[in-house]
Amino acid sequence: MSTTHVPTELEALSELEISTAEELAGRFPLTLNENPASQADYEQVMSELTFGNKFTDHMAHMRWTKEEGWSERGIIPYGPLALTPGAAVLHYSQSVFEGIKAYRHADGSIWTFRPAYNAARLNHSASRLALPKVDRDDFLASLVDYVRADEKWVPTGDGTSLYLRPLLFASEEFLGVHASSVVDYYVIGSPSGPYFTSGFTGVAIWVVKGYHRAGPGGTGSAKCGGNYAASLMPQLQAAEKGFSQVCFLDTYEEKYLEELGGMNMFVVMADGTVRTPELTGVILEGGTRSAICKMLRSQGTPVREEMIALDELVAGIRSGEVAEVFACGTAAVVTPITRLANDDFDVELPVGETTKRIHKQLTDIQMGYAQDPFGWMYRLV
Ligand code: COI
Repeated sequence: MSTTHVPTELEALSELEISTAEELAGRFPLTLNENPASQADYEQVMSELTFGNKFTDHMAHMRWTKEEGWSERGIIPYGPLALTPGAAVLHYSQSVFEGIKAYRHADGSIWTFRPAYNAARLNHSASRLALPKVDRDDFLASLVDYVRADEKWVPTGDGTSLYLRPLLFASEEFLGVHASSVVDYYVIGSPSGPYFTSGFTGVAIWVVKGYHRAGPGGTGSAKCGGNYAASLMPQLQAAEKGFSQVCFLDTYEEKYLEELGGMNMFVVMADGTVRTPELTGVILEGGTRSAICKMLRSQGTPVREEMIALDELVAGIRSGEVAEVFACGTAAVVTPITRLANDDFDVELPVGETTKRIHKQLTDIQMGYAQDPFGWMYRLV
């Protein structure tokens, strides 16, 4: 089978030359938070990093109206939003988001990873949810100005980052079902440690039957809240059985792997070939997924993006033909999967060498320990 890869639209857009942080800085003027976190609270947050439950002093914001387009750009104090209960997003879930990280390098500089990819994906998601597109320079500038305002919140140390969450949502006060004529964009940030508290030891995954996160023609390839909401109930049921995440199967036959609740999946064969579910329009086109494929191909590893049948995977794990399985995503980075189960099977896997190598190579680039041969890193500060 050929392993020639034609870049996807998002990959092609992410390769285009982009403006530097210096060129963009200042588009989102700063209004200082007069009531920032106390020094004691700040120190506590930064010394006990968790994932996604503490936030910095500021956030980026701009607003779109059908009449005027985007305006009101600014970095403003972080805090609760004044949102009418009639806001369309609260009823029809017209919202999309991104996940991207800011990393502090050893010399104190702050970088992010492939922001043009996230800008392109935000707009892919926005277009599926009938939301306005965000100009790529506005997206980049919102990250630059926000991270510059809250620079001190970018932690130091391996496995840590300031997790950035750009989001777009329908804020028009209107109960008729139509595309909102008012939309808000925010970037918030959370100083973070590992997504899984178990660290790199591996997670147990329950393979769901009977429930699906998205279907053909639906919103599966968009990063929208509804996809994640659809994953929560099966995930809760799996958690009660002791599993950390669920894996969804295709809607028609429940035969092929799709993705986890919020991460893509890879399978490493004993012969060294690496496989991942192909982009059918139903799964999310993960930036980490794309980077791993590119990195492996550049090293001569055969990577196959294809339909992966669950039966065949389980048989391969039992026979030894399948050596490793791992999950990946911005938040989860590269996380070994050490157990896969449902009512019909229960199989275990080791934390494999290929998974460890991919994790190290990727995080070494992100943390500035290794050369960045692909030009993925973007300096924010
Ligand atoms: C990310 O990896 O950034 C996501 O948005 C997924 C979510 C599970 C945190």
